[in-house]
Amino acid sequence: MGASAALIEVHDLTRTFGGVRALDGVTLAVRAGERRAVIGPNGAGKTTLFNVLTGELSPTAGSVRLAGRDITRATTWQRARWGLARMYQRNELFAPLSARENVALAVASRAGPYRLFGSSGAESKMADELLAKVGLAGRESSAARALSHGERRQLELAVSLAQGPEVLLLDEPTAGMSPAETARITELIASLDRALTILIVEHDMDVVFRLADRISVLHEGRVIADGAPGQIRGDVRVNEVYLGKAVTVG
Ligand SMILES: Nc1ncnc2c1ncn2[C@@H]1O[C@H](COP(=O)(O)OP(=O)(O)OP(=O)(O)O)[C@@H](O)[C@H]1O
Ligand SMILES: [Mg+2]
Repeated sequence: MGASAALIEVHDLTRTFGGVRALDGVTLAVRAGERRAVIGPNGAGKTTLFNVLTGELSPTAGSVRLAGRDITRATTWQRARWGLARMYQRNELFAPLSARENVALAVASRAGPYRLFGSSGAESKMADELLAKVGLAGRESSAARALSHGERRQLELAVSLAQGPEVLLLDEPTAGMSPAETARITELIASLDRALTILIVEHDMDVVFRLADRISVLHEGRVIADGAPGQIRGDVRVNEVYLGKAVTVG
């Protein structure tokens, strides 16, 4: 892949924690508009990779470029301004506030990190549009804490989208969901704007093969395979270290 074609370029990324090499020379490139899944066994380094992409962790070595710009040392806030958003595995919602208020605050925060309170009518309108997009029409006035687990993840997705990102990172979006909730959020993600570049970490292989254009497989901090879903499914090494042990259907 030519350097100019990639929206995200990760080069020789290493991150150690004491003696643990959570990332051990990871190189990968993601095109604009691509939906890339990152899979691999527990402890493979998937969340660490996301943490380094968002700037929550700095790498021990290596570099990250976003749209050609070296962002390796940029703050999380700068990266967000340049189009990188993440849906958190942990709950980042304001529990007593309504779904609409949670999204409106995220819309308002695009104007600056300290502009948190006093959402305008325009922000509420945009919030309602985003809530409809994630399947929460009719739930706008419900407090975040009154939503079901699946609905809270839908709301978190709307909060992420409120930043107007170019790249969305999803770390196990279906974790803890019922099969019905999983199917619902999977179709919501599938229906997002095709121009949005999505990186998704997920253990549910039905979800991965439904959403991914391309899959990178991490094992012990290294990329052991990178290719189209059909190639990954047929990869002997991937089946040995991961897919053969994971629950796969289809
Ligand atoms: N903050 C940290 N301090 C120390 N070790 C860490 C830290 N974060 C991750 N690690 C270690 O780095 C390795 C990779 O962890 P990581 O969370 O990235 O794996 P993962 O692929 O996301 O796993 P899972 O599928 O279980 O979420 C593991 O050995 C983990 O124990
Ligand atoms: Mg993880």
